[in-house]
Amino acid sequence: MVEAVHVGRRAIGVDIDPRWVELTERNLHHARQHGATGAAMILRGDARHLQPVPRRLRGTVDLVLTTPPARLNASGHSGRRWSNADLVGQMETDLKLSFACWIPLLRSGTTIVLTSRLLHRGHQMLDLTVPIAYAAEWAGLALVERIAALHVPISDTRRARRPITRNRRRLSRPRVIHDDVLVYRVPDVLPTWWRGRR
Ligand SMILES: C[S@@+](CC[C@H](N)C(=O)[O-])C[C@H]1O[C@@H](n2cnc3c(N)ncnc32)[C@H](O)[C@@H]1O
Repeated sequence: MVEAVHVGRRAIGVDIDPRWVELTERNLHHARQHGATGAAMILRGDARHLQPVPRRLRGTVDLVLTTPPARLNASGHSGRRWSNADLVGQMETDLKLSFACWIPLLRSGTTIVLTSRLLHRGHQMLDLTVPIAYAAEWAGLALVERIAALHVPISDTRRARRPITRNRRRLSRPRVIHDDVLVYRVPDVLPTWWRGRR
């Protein structure tokens, strides 16, 4: 958001945790004191229900920055352990709810970048790009690019470093050494059912 206001953009950030909201407010205040001219609004709330955003902002926002709530904990509300299929289905539903809140705010032609990571569950790996792709198709987004971002330490030396691996102590599991980055574009003409939301 700080980068956005420094180049004069209009940005909205959403986080459910008041600590991050307060930290962002302070960073934005600092950016304004150093000449940033863009408009920024940081909201505390659930990314699936952006109620406080005024209607007049629809179609005018350059950046929405948030973490869609992927409730990837082991159990659902009923206390029963969720299967992988349950989790993937929940992720797809949460993303659709989030898209329905944010996409009407964004200017047409805006880029949407979604990152996810392979998830170990039991002896299986969950690929969360699948529910992302379903939700994006539902929202009428056009896929621009699919990228694998390797986890490598930032270093000012020239020597190549090996990627950071998760689960170093549990080597029996395959290592996860990248994030998936899916890049979409909000189409210039939204599907008919979106237009009423703008
Ligand atoms: C991995 S952190 C990302 C923090 C920050 N966006 C960044 O990139 O550094 C995940 C964030 O998602 C927030 N979060 C969790 N559930 C959320 C929800 N339902 N709506 C909005 N934010 C949520 C958490 O409070 C946490 O700050």
